[in-house]
Amino acid sequence: MWHILGAGSLGTLWATRLARAGLPVELILRDSARLHSYQQAGGLTLIEHGQPQHYPVPAQTPDHRQPIQRLLLACKAYDAANAVSQLASRLAPGAEILLLQNGLGSQDEVARAAPQARCIFASSTEGAFRQADFQVVFAGHGHTWLGDPQNLQPPSWLADLQHAGIVHDWSLDILSRLWRKLALNCAINPLTVLHDCRNGELQAHPAQVACLCSELSELLHTCGHSAAAENLHDDVQRVIQATAANYSSMHQDVRQGRRTEIAYLLGYACDAAQRHQLVLPHLQALHSQLLAHLAARGLPSH
Ligand SMILES: NC(=O)c1ccc[n+]([C@@H]2O[C@H](COP(=O)([O-])OP(=O)(O)OC[C@H]3O[C@@H](n4cnc5c(N)ncnc54)[C@H](OP(=O)(O)O)[C@@H]3O)[C@@H](O)[C@H]2O)c1
Repeated sequence: MWHILGAGSLGTLWATRLARAGLPVELILRDSARLHSYQQAGGLTLIEHGQPQHYPVPAQTPDHRQPIQRLLLACKAYDAANAVSQLASRLAPGAEILLLQNGLGSQDEVARAAPQARCIFASSTEGAFRQADFQVVFAGHGHTWLGDPQNLQPPSWLADLQHAGIVHDWSLDILSRLWRKLALNCAINPLTVLHDCRNGELQAHPAQVACLCSELSELLHTCGHSAAAENLHDDVQRVIQATAANYSSMHQDVRQGRRTEIAYLLGYACDAAQRHQLVLPHLQALHSQLLAHLAARGLPSH
């Protein structure tokens, strides 16, 4: 049984694909009010290539008593540890938690909240967004890497993902992948917020991007992830070009007055630099400017 916490963008994308492959799925929603809204909606809707498909996936609240063997955690990084704490007493011996959160830091928080569980980290290039409550658009097909830095053996349920058409690979160095994605995010997303621009418009600020890439590479080397530092600047420029017309996820969050995952992205990078007594003036200035920008809009710094 797949228990999926969070019926947002990625939770819906995973739940609907697993359910249509005939696999047993149970959603865990925030509380009885959310469960009631879900029951009114009658299930999840996934919109692919403009075509909506409806999936009446069963749902429950965290206080349900059913034991959990496999949990897909599909909430934001800042909600992850609390969400898992609520479910800790339901986790069966040998339970596994699959973590879809972007950035770094929430994985350690979850591991502390559920020390008895095996935590499997994911890094995905898939894209989805909520069009309405319980209605999600599958916006970008991509790839998901999964891995467990503590145990390199792949779990047996990867076959379920194959079955469900979730394109994935088992990674023997998932931390490096997460660090690389974090570095790409730090070099692009905060600048798009501060310049209030689409990704492609960062081509007008080449020196700023280059300085950030150089400091981020230094950080990756110091943190023992040299592979993640390789050609970082080239990759950042490639992403800026390939996604030129897009607004970054952080830009969209700020524009819509939503809390960002800054503490698990740029905030995490700056904390790591400080732990290693590394002085990265451009990265630290960017962090201060972004925090001030968020504070001016009444958005949290964590
Ligand atoms: N969306 C993407 O394309 C994408 C791509 C790659 C990575 N990611 C990462 O994936 C993670 C999830 O992102 P998302 O876009 O799917 O977020 P999202 O659409 O905001 O969905 C998060 C869901 O978690 C639910 N939730 C939070 N706390 C909960 C709790 N205690 N119990 C039950 N449900 C809870 C929320 O419930 P409510 O509906 O009640 O608020 C919401 O439905 C983030 O770290 C994001 O950066 C997303």
